Amino acid sequence: MEHKKLASFPKDFLWGSASAAYQVEGAWQEDGKGVSVWDEFVRIPGKTFKATNGDMAVDHYHRYKEDIALMKEQGLKTYRFSVAWTRIFPNGRGEVNQKGLEFYHDLIDELIKNDIEPMLTLYHWDLPQALQDEYGGWESRKIIDDFTNYATTLFEAFRGKVHYWVSLNEQNVFTSLGYMLAAHPPGVQDPKRMYAVNHIAFLANATVINKFHEMNMPGKIGPSFAYTPNYSIDSNPKNVLAAEDAEDLMANYWMDVYMWGKYPIAARNYLLEQGWAPEIEEGDQELLESAKPDFLGINYYQTATNMFNPLDGVGMGKMNTTGKKGTSEESGIPGMYKKVDNPFVNRTNWDWEIDPEGLRIGLRRITSRYRIPVMITENGLGEYDKLTENNEIHDEYRIEYLSNHVHAIREAISDGATVLGYCTWSYTDLLSWLNGYQKRYGFVYVDQDENQDGSLARYKKDSYYWYQKVIQENGENS
Ligand code: NOJ
Repeated sequence: MEHKKLASFPKDFLWGSASAAYQVEGAWQEDGKGVSVWDEFVRIPGKTFKATNGDMAVDHYHRYKEDIALMKEQGLKTYRFSVAWTRIFPNGRGEVNQKGLEFYHDLIDELIKNDIEPMLTLYHWDLPQALQDEYGGWESRKIIDDFTNYATTLFEAFRGKVHYWVSLNEQNVFTSLGYMLAAHPPGVQDPKRMYAVNHIAFLANATVINKFHEMNMPGKIGPSFAYTPNYSIDSNPKNVLAAEDAEDLMANYWMDVYMWGKYPIAARNYLLEQGWAPEIEEGDQELLESAKPDFLGINYYQTATNMFNPLDGVGMGKMNTTGKKGTSEESGIPGMYKKVDNPFVNRTNWDWEIDPEGLRIGLRRITSRYRIPVMITENGLGEYDKLTENNEIHDEYRIEYLSNHVHAIREAISDGATVLGYCTWSYTDLLSWLNGYQKRYGFVYVDQDENQDGSLARYKKDSYYWYQKVIQENGENS
């Protein structure tokens, strides 16, 4: 639908930007911090590009004031960051490490002082290694108590200061890459375990959301889901069905449980047939259905296009440490769907499809299906940026990417979606989990390289000024 008159962004729209502890903080052994699964994983030869790691990352731990000053100057309304569980509980549980808590108090206070709303992610993948060693981390129901205890500690500590909370970041990604593609810790390739882990993560997520509400926390909480809306390659009914299967198994499988506490039926039956369905114990269903997130967080990067895949067709694709996905034809599920290139969209240098309209489509689907406000917790473009001799970065491609997505959000709002805010990924450049520092997302360039010996100086990119203007105008000219 073409809107003659576009709706305006709400007055209190949260123009923001995001990061994650492991990707920015560094200081991996400071002030009593424990070891996370990522601290260990990156030390296994061949796992990351040129063995890059987050030991120092972009040193946000020591430079957060400088980073927040840049946010303030830009006019950012919210900053989404994650807490490293291992700073609070070095071994996952037990005594609180006060110094770790203090760091986040300082960070949050600094944000508030600068009129920036803190948005706190409880879990952005850096599980305490101690819990992985002790009981297999997310594979054991024991994690539900430990995660709830950790979350409750943060609820109590930051009550009244933090009003936006993200429970789990991209559960679908950390479980798929960790337990299906072996690209993230713990490096497992086993669909049955992957679905078992997801069930436990759903229970932990629901428990923490209930806890938040029981404690009458002022504010809102929700999970962040990496949503890749699915299209059919054409109107051949077989391909349309393939796209529906993909949407059910790759998207509704998570979102339905977050929102309704129920697994989509066709997907659940498929998993039962494969012998991969998680065991649902007594009480699980009630717990899942009782948790009501206040918003659904969406990390949006691209869409996926599907066609029918015969029973002897292609299986799951592979990820390599360059992070390039290769041709999308490589991945699919035999008997259901396979991924194909969308001929109507462009691709980034990292082979990700660029599809702003897909964000509007996704927001409409969520709005119709769940009637829930959405927080866009991530969206952005990973590219090779070039620093000029004058320390400038002319990232017009990022401006184009982001402005088209902002426009798509505005159209979705005009269609009737409730969107609370928009966090670009990322604020400063940061460590890509597998790709080191060659793939950059930030508004702020950080002088860091693959040898991890850059000066870490910060430089504003052209996109920094572009976003400053968008915020000033509350998106009115987008
Ligand atoms: C998703 C993740 O949440 C974030 O950590 C990652 O760096 C970006 N997307 C880019 O892939």
